[in-house]
Amino acid sequence: MSEESYSLHLEDGKQVKLPVYPGTLGPKVVDIRKLYSQAGVFTFDPGFLATASCESKITFIDGEKGVLLYRGYPIEQLAEHSSHLEVCYLLMYGELPTAEQFAGFRESITRHTMIHEGLKNFYNGFRRDAHPMAVMVGVVGALSAFYHDSLDIHNPEHREISAHRLIAKMPTIAAWSYKFFHGQPFLYPSNKLGYAENFLRMTFGVPAEEYEVNPVVAKALDQIFILHADHEQNASTSTVRLAGSSGANPFACISAGIGTLWGPAHGGANEAVLKMLDQIGGIENVDTVIDRAEDADDPFRLMGFGHRVYKNFDPRAVIIRDACHKVLDSLGIDDPQLELAMRLEEKALKEDYFIERKLYPNVDFYSGIILKAIGIPTNMFTVMFALGRTVGWISHWMEMIKEKDSVIGRPRQLYTGPTERDYQPITSRR
Ligand code: CMC
Repeated sequence: MSEESYSLHLEDGKQVKLPVYPGTLGPKVVDIRKLYSQAGVFTFDPGFLATASCESKITFIDGEKGVLLYRGYPIEQLAEHSSHLEVCYLLMYGELPTAEQFAGFRESITRHTMIHEGLKNFYNGFRRDAHPMAVMVGVVGALSAFYHDSLDIHNPEHREISAHRLIAKMPTIAAWSYKFFHGQPFLYPSNKLGYAENFLRMTFGVPAEEYEVNPVVAKALDQIFILHADHEQNASTSTVRLAGSSGANPFACISAGIGTLWGPAHGGANEAVLKMLDQIGGIENVDTVIDRAEDADDPFRLMGFGHRVYKNFDPRAVIIRDACHKVLDSLGIDDPQLELAMRLEEKALKEDYFIERKLYPNVDFYSGIILKAIGIPTNMFTVMFALGRTVGWISHWMEMIKEKDSVIGRPRQLYTGPTERDYQPITSRR
């Protein structure tokens, strides 16, 4: 029970007391669930700018201070010392695993990496030039047609098997979307390899020869997966929760999340960054492009800049900026696009427009450059984001299902359409 309350004084002299709940970190929340029954009004908050849609113990972000914690652990420490699979365990189960727990988890994920042979037919049904995110939405949704044995969302074992299946199969599904696009044979996963290594082999390997994994590339990819693993109630995670609140199966929910992630204001931003750098062409055009970004009459925005939550800096961008330089150095790549990106960053950070609006480079600004350097095609960038984010989606889905008072999500609205009117036959309409 809440000891604190928030009083609302209405025009008719009535007073409504609303309970206030504290979290362990971050702002308190006012519980407005009884507001309508007591005061007859809804709250209006399009885009959820000031609304906590749920209670969660998974991830904390302090956008003003640039803090990101997974289950309390700073992202900087996890990115430096942990691995993506260990972070998956942490996000799903709440604690870092012991050696024994981790061995069991890794074994389970490794043993679930193959996908049903029947799913191959799905790939052949797509146009060869289909966007890989379109393929992901379709194939991940279709998993529910192949794994009925784990679809009882009220059974904790079923939920866990589905979660492991999703984390394990995502690299295979993603790599096969690349293979299909390139007209190359699908490669099956290898149990000898780690998570990122397996993805790299299934993507870039061919059956005709051995594929040697570059450890620098595998490490950078693993780090990208860690940085993207969760980000509390972002648009795609909220979509997964909303879809899950109806009782939909986890494969359908994650497929809905993938669809949401596709948008350029969300996961599509890293792809948009590379397209933007291509369009800018060279460093001689940096001034013009900054002018365009600052022009209120021009819809152009600098892709990879700004964030709904981080209004200081994106801590993931700091880590990935460093990783970006390491990868380019170790691969010996001297990329003019990186120089262009650095010039854009340098120039934008000095501009009053960007300073006043607290617009800083976000994680996508740099992840696109790393992905390009390791050979991932631009249209696969958002797929890489989806791969990393799968564990976040499934962890939130599991947390939501376990809630005692979980109800179907159903926002209300401020209706501004026509008031009631009578139907007119077509002959008398003007
Ligand atoms: N370039 C130029 N101006 C910008 C930009 C930008 N990238 N982002 C915001 N602004 C301006 C915007 O025009 C507005 O100006 P004014 O106050 O004069 O009207 C002001 O900054 C506030 O913008 P907003 O749209 O109200 O801010 P928001 O918090 O709602 O938007 C955002 C966040 C990420 C949608 C937006 O910054 C954006 O479109 N960025 C580019 C796309 C991008 O990089 N998205 C990836 C987000 S990070 C990945 C993830 O976590 O999913």
